[in-house]
Order: sequence, then C-alpha cells, then structure tokens
Amino acid sequence: MRAVRYHEYGGAETLVVEQAPDPHPGPGEIRVRVAAAGVNPIDWKARSGALRELLPVELPAIPGRDAVGVVDEIGAGVQGVDIGDRVFGLGGLTGATAELAVLSAWAHAPATWTDEEAAGAGLASVTAMGGLKALGPLRGRTLLIEGAAGGVGSAAIEIAAAQGATVIGTAGERNHAFLTALGALPTTYGPGLAERLAALAPNGVDIVLDTAASGSLADLIEIAGDPARVATVADHANAQRLGAHLANAENDSTLLAAAGELGRQGRYTPRIERTYPLAQTAQAHAHAERGHTRGKIVVRI
Ligand SMILES: NC(=O)c1ccc[n+]([C@@H]2O[C@H](COP(=O)([O-])OP(=O)(O)OC[C@H]3O[C@@H](n4cnc5c(N)ncnc54)[C@H](OP(=O)(O)O)[C@@H]3O)[C@@H](O)[C@H]2O)c1
Repeated sequence: MRAVRYHEYGGAETLVVEQAPDPHPGPGEIRVRVAAAGVNPIDWKARSGALRELLPVELPAIPGRDAVGVVDEIGAGVQGVDIGDRVFGLGGLTGATAELAVLSAWAHAPATWTDEEAAGAGLASVTAMGGLKALGPLRGRTLLIEGAAGGVGSAAIEIAAAQGATVIGTAGERNHAFLTALGALPTTYGPGLAERLAALAPNGVDIVLDTAASGSLADLIEIAGDPARVATVADHANAQRLGAHLANAENDSTLLAAAGELGRQGRYTPRIERTYPLAQTAQAHAHAERGHTRGKIVVRI
C-alpha cells in the first residue's frame, strides 16, 4: 500500500510517501480502505521525538491516529460491522495516513458528514467527551472552554451545547466569528480573562475545560473557584500539581457512536480548516504544528 512514513524522529521534512506492508487486523480490530485521515497534535509530537521516552513509536512509522474509510477486513470476534461499511475511528498512536489502516475503535459514519469531516471526528470527539464527563452534568451550567477554536475545543463546544450547557470559548480575535457559529460566546484568552468573563457571565462560570495547555490552568481554577470544577486534556503537569481533572482520549466505540449520533442529528459537525493531499502530508503537519488550527486539518488519501 501507499503510505506516509518517517524513518527517524525529526521535523516535517522527514515524512515521505512510499510503499509499506499492508496491515491486518488482530482480534477485535478492523481494517479500512482509508478515504481521509485526521491530523492531530500527537502526530507531530510523536514524529518529533519529543515523546520518545513516554510514547515511543516503532520506526519506520506511519503518522496518524484518526481515519475514515470503508471496512475491507474484519478481525476475529468483531460484531456489528460488515465489509463495505463506512466507518470512522481510531487506531493506535500511528498508522492512519495510508491507503489501509487498522482501527480498534470505530462507529458508522453519519451520511451527513463528508469524508473529511468524519476523518476529523474521532480523536477530537472522544477527547472532548472525556474532558466534559469529568465535569459532571452540563445542563444549565456555564462552561468555559480555553482553546475553543482547535480540534478538541470546537468539538467540545457543540457536544456541550447539545447537552444543554451555555458555552463561552476563548480564541484569538480571528476565530471569534467561528466560535459564534459553533454556538459559543467568544472571548480572548490571556491577561484580563476574569474581567472579560464577569461581563459575559455575570452569574459566574461553573465549570472549565482546558484544551490549550498555555500555562493558564491556575487562572482557570481561580475563575471556577475549585480545581474539581476544572478539567484539562492537555496540561498534564499542572493538572497533577493543582488538583484539576486530567482526561485522556480513550479508544471507546461507544463514545464514537455517540459522536456519530450527534452528527446524524445535525448537532455536531467537525469543521475542516484545510484538506491536504497525501503527497503534502508534510505541509499538513507544518500547518498543525503552528498551533493555530481552526477546527481540523485532514489528509485526503
Ligand atoms: N489527552 C489526550 O488524550 C489528548 C487528545 C487530543 C489532544 N490532546 C491535546 O490537547 C491539545 C489540543 O488539541 P487540539 O487537537 O484541539 O489542538 P489544535 O487543533 O492544534 O488546537 C490549536 C488551538 O489552540 C488555540 N490556542 C493557541 N494558543 C492558545 C492560547 N495561548 N490560549 C488558548 N488557546 C490557544 C488556537 O486558537 P487561536 O488560533 O485562536 O489562538 C487553536 O485553535 C493539544 O495539546 C493536544 O496534544 C490531548
């Protein structure tokens, strides 16, 4: 199969398109003929070698954790999915940016989503749901999302709004109209946030989801009034130090099915900032690495 790979840790220039062995699903897994793969920060962080102690990859490695495609091989013990079904989902830390990919968690992709949208749904939705779950019931509560314009943040806006939360999101000015379109009240992150929120939410912010890891966690806890009302998916070190909830993405097909159902209802649609062809995966990584993705970046296979 044709795949993007890197043979050593390094910058985006290490990515090459080449032939690689076809993968096969193990028990409980499926293989898809990939239509599109999502790009996530973990892809370039793993490729750079920065996580090699914590999350080493086997080289050469195919980047990508998120894919949508048509099922073409089914592992032992798998039920509820057939050859030819269009599914989106998650594999391991690597493997998605290729013609064929193995998934260990998946759900049927809603017909309302394009392939690009479905490719951007997996990791962002399960991460957003994990962070939101740690915060308890959402109905009637005012939720602040720090880093609301990114992949996880933009998914969290729609998922939380669908559960009845009033959502305030932080982003740079250029993304404020984007946040409004998703259903959040926009404001700017950084100094003076507490004062801006006092005007936007006179009754206070009940709960906070941090997806930015910008060093603001202590300020966010002060805004919520209690570390138990704050969850982060990105700031591992400070979460432990300050006592906030830490949520990590889980390869959970139930969560993916819930995200797909919201898609069918028209309440959650991943927003795609840009789609790159497979041959330009290095540019896609460089784009993601700049840290200002609006919604998702996707690679079309
Ligand atoms: N724990 C897990 O399992 C897990 C899973 C997925 C992701 N993550 C982590 O969660 C983080 C977010 O992931 P993602 O996919 O949403 O990333 P992303 O799509 O690259 O998000 C980038 C967003 O961050 C915003 N941003 C940049 N600087 C900011 C700041 N100082 N304050 C607030 N927002 C800022 C940008 O908005 P502007 O352009 O408006 O500045 C941009 O929209 C990453 O660190 C990722 O590694 C963790």
